[in-house]
Amino acid sequence: MFNAERFIDEQIKKIRQDVKGKAIIAASGGVDSTVCAALVGKAIGERLLAIYVDTGFMRKGETESVDKMLRRLGVNHRVVDAGDEYFDALKGVTEPEQKRKIIGERFIRIFEREAKMFGAEFLVQGTIAPDWIESGGGLRDTIKSHHNVGGLPKDMSLKLVEPLRDLYKDEVRKVGRALKIEVAEKQPFPGPALAIRVMGEPTRESVAIVREACAIVEEEIEIAASKGKMKLPWQYFAVLLPVKSVGVQGDIRAYGFTIAVRAVDSVDAMTAVYSKMPHDVLETISSRITNEMKAKVNRVVYDVTNKPPATIEWE
Ligand code: XMP
Repeated sequence: MFNAERFIDEQIKKIRQDVKGKAIIAASGGVDSTVCAALVGKAIGERLLAIYVDTGFMRKGETESVDKMLRRLGVNHRVVDAGDEYFDALKGVTEPEQKRKIIGERFIRIFEREAKMFGAEFLVQGTIAPDWIESGGGLRDTIKSHHNVGGLPKDMSLKLVEPLRDLYKDEVRKVGRALKIEVAEKQPFPGPALAIRVMGEPTRESVAIVREACAIVEEEIEIAASKGKMKLPWQYFAVLLPVKSVGVQGDIRAYGFTIAVRAVDSVDAMTAVYSKMPHDVLETISSRITNEMKAKVNRVVYDVTNKPPATIEWE
């Protein structure tokens, strides 16, 4: 049986032994990196600098809320606005693995820049077991290179520290709860963020559409769950498809994009089943998306595929 308190005590001792100088961590606001930042912060205090990179792919209001949370946790941190840099780097890029590699590499380059300024020698990462298992660690095939593994450049000059690498998601959440992190109850969110929820090239415009759709999906599902209409799924979001279809608005022919809604139940993200959510919740989501983004989206579909054969994200 996994014991979160014991894990925390052991890791703090180990981190103090291993990390003698200054360290830097990428704080995305997700469960893994926040738990990691709080854990390492507890161990080495101000010698840790958490960098939050606003890539331009974050969810609605995310940058502000992560900033606030790190402040509350007393983690030494800095927000870097890197939107222009990311959209430039991904111009014309549509292939999912290429997106991940570019995003991952840029992350590391930004950290190297920041690390130099801070004088850090160590890079702390919130990698967890499914990340490296699915990235071709051990005997398994590469399914997706999760950005914090696959994107690592070979010539990286920082020493890697990964305190969560043997944990599964439910164990990370237990550690989060023990550290009194409210984010421990939040749904998981991928490192490459909304860039992999836009099928095709991530542009300011396409990312803005999926950001709005994701916010609607999250809001409506959370309202329905709080009213007891459904159980809160493990993960729920929107994906922007590059497919245009014909619709009608008033008397006028419309030709707009399609949003796919994805909601799944899982324990450790290794397998998942699609959420059997009530049809009226789906209908509310669909009406809101097509009303609030009239000019852009005229069709909403629900993904009824389990993992396997699909994965949770579409890319
Ligand atoms: P998949 O889509 O592989 O996702 O079934 C399993 C879990 O991992 C998240 N995910 C990622 N997390 N970097 C991450 O840190 C990534 O590149 C990445 N891709 C997927 C996904 O949201 C789900 O929770």
